[in-house]
Amino acid sequence: MCYAIPGKIIEIKKNVAVLDYFGEKRNVLLDQDVKVGDYAYAQGGVLINVIEKAEAERVLIFWKEKFFELKEIDEKTSKVQEINASTKVLEILEKVNLSKELTKEDMMFLLKVEDSRELKLIYETANNVRQKEHDNACCVHGIIEFSNYCKNDCSYCGIRKSRNIQRYRMSVKEIVEVAKKAVSLGFKALVLQSGEDYWYDEEKLIEIVKKIRKLNVLIFLSIGVREKRIYEKLYQAGARGVLLRFETSDRELFERERPKTNFNKRISLIRDLKEMKYIIATGFLVGIGESEENIVNNILLTKELEPDMYSFGPFIPSGGSSKVEKDLIFKIIALSRFIDKKSKILVTSALETLDSNARKEGLMAGANSLMLNVTPKKYKELYNLYPGRKDEEVIKAVDETVDLLYSIGRAPTDLGI
Ligand code: 5AD
Repeated sequence: MCYAIPGKIIEIKKNVAVLDYFGEKRNVLLDQDVKVGDYAYAQGGVLINVIEKAEAERVLIFWKEKFFELKEIDEKTSKVQEINASTKVLEILEKVNLSKELTKEDMMFLLKVEDSRELKLIYETANNVRQKEHDNACCVHGIIEFSNYCKNDCSYCGIRKSRNIQRYRMSVKEIVEVAKKAVSLGFKALVLQSGEDYWYDEEKLIEIVKKIRKLNVLIFLSIGVREKRIYEKLYQAGARGVLLRFETSDRELFERERPKTNFNKRISLIRDLKEMKYIIATGFLVGIGESEENIVNNILLTKELEPDMYSFGPFIPSGGSSKVEKDLIFKIIALSRFIDKKSKILVTSALETLDSNARKEGLMAGANSLMLNVTPKKYKELYNLYPGRKDEEVIKAVDETVDLLYSIGRAPTDLGI
């Protein structure tokens, strides 16, 4: 977001550029003409835009000290404090440290841990792995919820078709305006989310993507199942990411909770999108009646889909509070970190509704990404996927997030691949 650091292009190899950030080198994908010596912002492993040298130097002066100061805090806070656990837990964590693959049984075992000292060790180990693999970079994407119309009737969802709620659609112009505002706050990646709303046809979606791409941001689409052909066109128009959860790997549960939708179709779409070179964010819901084994299968299916980012969160029932314990989510974050060290793991806003401290705890259990809602207030309150969503000013939320990240030594930026 705001504080993304420009890197200097030091090498170009076909469609990859090597960016230098104070001596650290990162590869980013290129889809525009650039030259060695240019300064550029990258996001999610994609070069977004080249900026003037003078502007880059101004930003870099601010960052130089902060960059190393934050890294130091992160290094200190991500050390494992005290080793206090049963032999079995220690054996499994040793496998993690030696980069040996965990078995399904290992994963089940960790998922069942309840002892607070063992949980602490598991989270600290996951945070340590996160630090070693990703350093202190933390993506902060903005999310624009542009329509709460949905043709589906998924039992768990607050905007499902059969619910009698006030509906809204933002016009193309409004969406672009909201995106502009988010960019002015410094967001470098935006997620455009809606229910499955076919009022936004191919033409409208392409127009939205083309206009927002001109603002120099990474665009993620979160619009549900659409024809492959449309996603291809949207890629050409400039979208680079898709957020599409498979929701559950249990087919029966999927078909029960998501009437008239198809598991295989959703999974093959995610695979097709990956093949189209989209950056994939995917994952599942926790607490919709799945078994523990199913949770492990959900984590494994996420890994199999080779996403750039894991996105999973607790089910929050409408009109009630969630039965999901936040520790279960932290264990899933840690397990995901253990089996897929290189991926990004999102602390979802649904997790944040469980407890005001959950966001920080999630980041300390292996997660390294956040999303902030930038939808205008009048629409945000109608986009009730679940109750208890935070309602705060975007500017305030940005400030609070930056403060939180700084306090744990994380840099709100995304340095290439
Ligand atoms: N609680 C938590 N998450 C929900 N989602 C939908 N309804 C709920 C709910 N009640 C999630 C789904 C969807 C994402 C956009 O929101 O996983 O993919």
